[in-house]
Amino acid sequence: MSSNLSRTPRHVLVIVASTRPGRLGPAIADWFVQAALPAATASGVTLDIADLADIGLPLLDEPEHPSSGTYVHEHTRSWSRQVAAADAFVVVTPEYNYGMPAALKNAFDVLYHEWAWKPVGFVSYGNTSAGTRSVQMTKQVVTTLRMLPIGATVALRIAESINDGQVLQSAGLDESARRMLLELSRVASAMRPLRTEPDGEVAGVAGPVDGLRLTMAQPDDLAELLVLQRCCWVQEALANDTLDLSPLRETLDELRESMSTWQVWCVRRQGRLVAAVRARAHERAWLIGRLMVAPDQAGNGIGSWLLSYVEQQAPQEETAYYELFTGHRSIHNIKRYERAGYVLTHDEDVPHGSVRLTKQRQPAAFVM
Ligand SMILES: Cc1cc2nc3c(=O)[nH]c(=O)nc-3n(C[C@H](O)[C@H](O)[C@H](O)COP(=O)(O)O)c2cc1C
Repeated sequence: MSSNLSRTPRHVLVIVASTRPGRLGPAIADWFVQAALPAATASGVTLDIADLADIGLPLLDEPEHPSSGTYVHEHTRSWSRQVAAADAFVVVTPEYNYGMPAALKNAFDVLYHEWAWKPVGFVSYGNTSAGTRSVQMTKQVVTTLRMLPIGATVALRIAESINDGQVLQSAGLDESARRMLLELSRVASAMRPLRTEPDGEVAGVAGPVDGLRLTMAQPDDLAELLVLQRCCWVQEALANDTLDLSPLRETLDELRESMSTWQVWCVRRQGRLVAAVRARAHERAWLIGRLMVAPDQAGNGIGSWLLSYVEQQAPQEETAYYELFTGHRSIHNIKRYERAGYVLTHDEDVPHGSVRLTKQRQPAAFVM
């Protein structure tokens, strides 16, 4: 089992915690990525930088508790997708007044399940304490979110390790970055089974049949999702007499890439992936796609339940209508969507062989 796990690609998100103009954070994150890259490449790990200054999250502005996974703002959804797609984190953090930067605390607070059961390493920097007091404070926060701080650590004293805004060349420091990367990768593999436990469940969503578990898709779901998708689109290929359907042709890498622009939800029954759907906001529309239910689970009400759930995830203020596409000969699908209140809507830009269906969003009832 462990050899399979170690071959599975891992994705590490390097988070730049400082946001002020003229900060050191980006240069230190760049150094870490360069120093860790050979070890990452050799062990099948990809690295990406998330700079909180570019991401620009407002102070927690979501009405629902983050554990609900219900986000009304696109900035939160986008951050959610980025964090959910990671298997492990490196936090590059300074120390401000013996503590963590406020932007980092906020970036943690706005999400919940996306962080859980993933390891985190720290690259800290500062004056005499080299940022270690900031790390101690951050550990208290990350463990609450069910992340696991690893033992390997990099702590830079600015006066000794940084010159002219850059990390000084040092074989010792490069080695500490390499060790952190390898430890993160090992721990991420070991923690992987924890991420399939019910804690990732979207809170308070009762399904039409027993034993369903609805979660936001994680990187570990993707291979199984691709198999389910191909299986489900065989019917579409037959109905529309074409194999030229993107859900059939899509590769695992393309599916992984799509997670940065779509929110994806998975439904498992007794651990097995039985349904999925994805959605994203597009102007005034909440675009719903890839609604799929395993053929042997069809007729259980799972598709209608999932469609209704994903409609409820639409941003409240921005969404005027729901929109989806299906094959023009997918009579079964079209009927099912019409039963759910969708109407066929003419649009010249609809791809050849497809039809567009829309449904007006009912504004939420105002309760005094
Ligand atoms: C608001 C503020 C508070 C700071 N407090 C500390 C501190 O408590 N301990 C420390 O070692 N350095 C402290 N420093 C100095 C920082 O370590 C140093 O400015 C570092 O470059 C900050 O990271 P940044 O450039 O990425 O923002 C502080 C700097 C700022 C701006």
